[in-house]
Amino acid sequence: MKSFKRHTITAALPYANGPIHLGHVAGVYLPSDIYARYLRNKGEDVLFICGSDENGMAITLRALKDGVTPQDIVDRYHPMLQSALAGLGISFDHYSRTSSSIHYETASEFFANIDAKGILEQKTTEQLYDAEYDQFLADRYVKGTCPKCGNEGAYGDQCESCGSSLSALELINPISTLSGNKPEVKTSTHWYFPLDKYENWLKEWLLEGHQEWKNNVYGQCKSWIDGGLAPRAVTRDLNWGVPVPAKGADGKVLYVWFDAPVGYISATKEWAQASGKDWEPYWKDEETRLLHFIGKDNIVFHCIFFPSMLKAHGDYILPDNVPGNEFLNLEGLKLSTSRNWAVWLHEYLEDLAGKEDVLRYVLCANMPETKDADFSWADFQARNNNELVATIGNFANRVFVLIKKYFDGKLPELGELDDYDKEVIRAINQTPDFMADSLDQFKFKEALNHWMNLARAGNKYLADTEPWKLIKTDETRVKTILHLAAQLVANLAILSEPFLPFFAKKVGNTTGVDVKDWNAAGSHELISSGKEIENPGHLFEKIDDAIVEIQRKKLEENKASNQPVHEQLKPEIQFDDFTKLDIRVGTIEAAEKVAKTKKLLKLTVDMGFEKRTIVSGIAEFFKPEDIIGQQVSVLVNLAPRKLKGIESQGMVLMAEDAEKGLVFVQPSQVIQSGAIVS
Ligand code: MF3
Ligand code: ZN
Repeated sequence: MKSFKRHTITAALPYANGPIHLGHVAGVYLPSDIYARYLRNKGEDVLFICGSDENGMAITLRALKDGVTPQDIVDRYHPMLQSALAGLGISFDHYSRTSSSIHYETASEFFANIDAKGILEQKTTEQLYDAEYDQFLADRYVKGTCPKCGNEGAYGDQCESCGSSLSALELINPISTLSGNKPEVKTSTHWYFPLDKYENWLKEWLLEGHQEWKNNVYGQCKSWIDGGLAPRAVTRDLNWGVPVPAKGADGKVLYVWFDAPVGYISATKEWAQASGKDWEPYWKDEETRLLHFIGKDNIVFHCIFFPSMLKAHGDYILPDNVPGNEFLNLEGLKLSTSRNWAVWLHEYLEDLAGKEDVLRYVLCANMPETKDADFSWADFQARNNNELVATIGNFANRVFVLIKKYFDGKLPELGELDDYDKEVIRAINQTPDFMADSLDQFKFKEALNHWMNLARAGNKYLADTEPWKLIKTDETRVKTILHLAAQLVANLAILSEPFLPFFAKKVGNTTGVDVKDWNAAGSHELISSGKEIENPGHLFEKIDDAIVEIQRKKLEENKASNQPVHEQLKPEIQFDDFTKLDIRVGTIEAAEKVAKTKKLLKLTVDMGFEKRTIVSGIAEFFKPEDIIGQQVSVLVNLAPRKLKGIESQGMVLMAEDAEKGLVFVQPSQVIQSGAIVS
């Protein structure tokens, strides 16, 4: 591989409109961190940067939803993102944010620079506008009927049913997903980046010049470029973001995908200012290797759009590689922030404090490198118990305990070597190269597997040679075995540092091995004989069922509580389906709590034609004595069900509100019991 003088490594800037979940970690932050640590430990000059993505509609919409300002939103999430990532040991040299003044200047200058070169084009076009929200609608915020296939749920940029890419203006019966209203058509002027003019260059630079990129990344780029590129608007009508530095651009800001990647440059400047370094070589020297770590939804922006911007500007280097990952699913289902189907990093770090490396291990072992992968709590528990505890933890602990017991904690001398010892030495020698080879190709799972194989070899070596038995007959042999086993542990510590930095640090502290010296690995002479080595204590602990049960329950509860209403709509039904429901007005005559339950009330409801006993889960919202005499709507032809031994003969209809909880669905004035609802 070509060698470089320095490396600028970027991790996609997380949107500051919500917390980070495990999908982000497995896709972006963990692989970039492993890679940055690996290069640093090899002695390379590395700058690893990130920051919060704080502009764009993702932020303004969140603010609208919460009834606060965009600034409030980013001020809430920026520190949260930063500390969660730090808590997992993600070793950024700098974590910045795109609402900083240095970023506003940098992004603004970038735009002005390429505008002054005459590269940008201005166009006035018709766009959909939501009057209620006073907001031009990005394509994704418009839904309607696909003009090609008639699918009624097509988005303004794409129809997921037939796969055609669309423009919002083509949709039949468009609806704003913000207000649910029919949008207006208004005109607005914007600046466009002529991506079409970069098509030939992209073919040469990317499709011919970077065939070594990961297949999943290269393939997506190829289909984008082959499909033809069109000019892209780089400004928006929005009152939040970097103002467009041009005449006639009042009320307009830079498109978030224009300013955010420039955020990598701003972050570098900020880092340089704070550390007294020069930022320019990291972005302008041909001997710098620029790497962007991203998830698959970011590929087009980092492989096509941003490089074209950099090319247009002309002062900057281009990415050497863009190791994009696929997605991580959760318990077999697609992760979804809006549906709250996610494990949030900050919650993991709180709930499972001290288990940072366990998460890093499990996510690396399941990294969605070439295809989507899955995280499940069962797998988390199994990998912890069977791999981390049973293999590495058990092995390292045995080595420390036996050296303490037989040799007073001092590393015994190496004696004569037999074939098995030589085999172990060979495994120690080879593993760093195996791992480096995988890491250089961004094959993190494979690298971790080589590491685990070395741990397995060590564990097996002890199990096979049984020094605890041998000690009675052949102390010299035991010395050799434990000497080599300890050297193997030291190697495991160095080689694990990029992956399991907390584990590595503990072992480093008690053995005196410099775990950040990758180049030292491969040797079986890392610790000298006679050196006192201490047991770092429990490195990994068993995780029992109760712990993962709590996490599983939490997932289910989160999901139930936080599903946005527009995604809860049930499938369409026919009028006939509706007429099957027999709903009538009743009057509550009596109510009492069902013994030994928190939620259930037993109601006697006068339905006019008869009295019904109905068990209803409303006890947390109503006192029995308060509801007597209230009129309610009852589904009377629901098959009777037994609840806590009581037969419930129907269902009382309730409406739910986040603040008020449950309320009755009632007629607007008192009417006779038995009145039919239709
Ligand atoms: N915030 C974007 C996302 O989460 C990523 C931005 S990466 C940058 O998908 F390059 F634009 F900064
Ligand atoms: Zn369609």
